[in-house]
Amino acid sequence: MTITNTFKDNNYKLTKIFFHSIFYALPLIALICIYFYPHYSIAPFLTPSIIHNSSLSSTSTHLTKEKEKLYEKPCDYTNGKWIYDKKGPLYNGTTCSNIKKSQNCIVNGRPDSNYLNWRWKPSECHLPIFDPNTFLKLIKNMNIVFIGDSLANNQMESLICLLSTISKPKLVPHIGTDSKWYFPSHNANLSLYWSPFLVKGDQRKKEGPPYNKIYLDHVNEMWGKDIDQMDLIVLSFGHWLLDIPSIYYEGDSIIGCLKCHDFKFNYKDIGFYDPMRKALRTTLNTIIERKVGKGNGIDVIVRTFSPTHFEGDWDKGGTCSKREPYRNEEKKLEGMDAKIRSIEIEELENAKEKAKKFGLNFEVLDVTKLALLRPDGHPGAYMNPFPFANGVPKNVQNDCVHWCLPGPIDTWNEIFSEMMKKGKYHAQREK
Ligand SMILES: *[C@@H]1O[C@H](CO)[C@@H](O)[C@H](O)[C@H]1NC(C)=O
Ligand SMILES: *[C@@H]1O[C@H](CO)[C@@H](O)[C@H](O)[C@H]1NC(C)=O
Ligand SMILES: *[C@@H]1O[C@H](CO)[C@@H](O)[C@H](O)[C@H]1NC(C)=O
Repeated sequence: MTITNTFKDNNYKLTKIFFHSIFYALPLIALICIYFYPHYSIAPFLTPSIIHNSSLSSTSTHLTKEKEKLYEKPCDYTNGKWIYDKKGPLYNGTTCSNIKKSQNCIVNGRPDSNYLNWRWKPSECHLPIFDPNTFLKLIKNMNIVFIGDSLANNQMESLICLLSTISKPKLVPHIGTDSKWYFPSHNANLSLYWSPFLVKGDQRKKEGPPYNKIYLDHVNEMWGKDIDQMDLIVLSFGHWLLDIPSIYYEGDSIIGCLKCHDFKFNYKDIGFYDPMRKALRTTLNTIIERKVGKGNGIDVIVRTFSPTHFEGDWDKGGTCSKREPYRNEEKKLEGMDAKIRSIEIEELENAKEKAKKFGLNFEVLDVTKLALLRPDGHPGAYMNPFPFANGVPKNVQNDCVHWCLPGPIDTWNEIFSEMMKKGKYHAQREK
């Protein structure tokens, strides 16, 4: 589906508002990211106080028994629905102390908590509850690396919170990464590299040129130089390529731009879909070239696009005010969200064939649809502590891009965990 098609249908007005809000809201969120990014909490863990010991050990024994049954038929987690479940998450904003302030919604005073009680039910199979014990065993002696934007950080923090319910990680200083968490109990690391374009790029700056420079044929060496030390890479990108004026380079030449007419350049505006495709292709090819023959179960996961849910214009009080998931038929995956997801899946599938020849395994973590159905899972105004403590202010800042912790993003890691089980199982069988 193309945008042109979307504009033709009778949802024109809604779509227009939707796109309008995305294009104006993202620079705001981007700014928020710039300002808040270095400050995510590095406080030590208070204490992981939820210990699900009995359920864990029984899950582990069942695991062996159910292995064949579980892994013979691949499960499609893409399509399904959110069903109400009283049980709720494994952790909360008090038990996990490393949640970024702007995503710690309950602690910031968010009054409703129903959004914590929904489980993803894939259409044709069952998604097990996250089992920290099993996951830690699966990542034993591994360095799991998240590369990308602030949603990469959001997902990694969810994973750290889930795992720290049974094992306490240490924040270790490491040159190059933006944060690295070490689980001594299993000699496993979770690392984050900030690289919102994946490829090499200069982010626009207040003092510098007011546009991004993006080099589509080179990966960002901030992470590229460390590929050797990475056992599994989770890629997360998209939002930073959408709206900010950009100049695109290939080799030494400029091949086009995005929204650069204000700068009186003569470059052709080539939009963002093709550059996005190129950036991902360069990234996947570079990983293949540098990692030849060092396969380790799964080697690369592309996490698909995470939709935003602004209603109205962000600068005129636009919010994400829904307090329940959409039902399946209520919200279609279409327009930009669908297109970006397709690009990501196409590029991954192409690279996957090539990767296999080199002994590497690439997979998609397809979250676009399940995330699209969760307009209720964003911090909204509760990105700030108690935003309405003194009445309703004139301008309320809303984050309808990132996800509350705990929240729907924990589901991404439940699927991630199932992928790991399957990957490890296949890797062992092939040995
Ligand atoms: C967890 O269960 C195992 C085996 O059932 C037991 O040896 C261990 O002491 C338990 N740990 C805790 C923290 O309850
Ligand atoms: C968080 O979980 C702990 C342990 O289950 C519980 O004692 C505490 O009340 C919870 N806090 C919130 C804010 O829900
Ligand atoms: C994880 O990080 C720690 C601390 O930097 C290091 O000692 C250990 O070797 C690392 N382990 C893996 C598997 O990367």
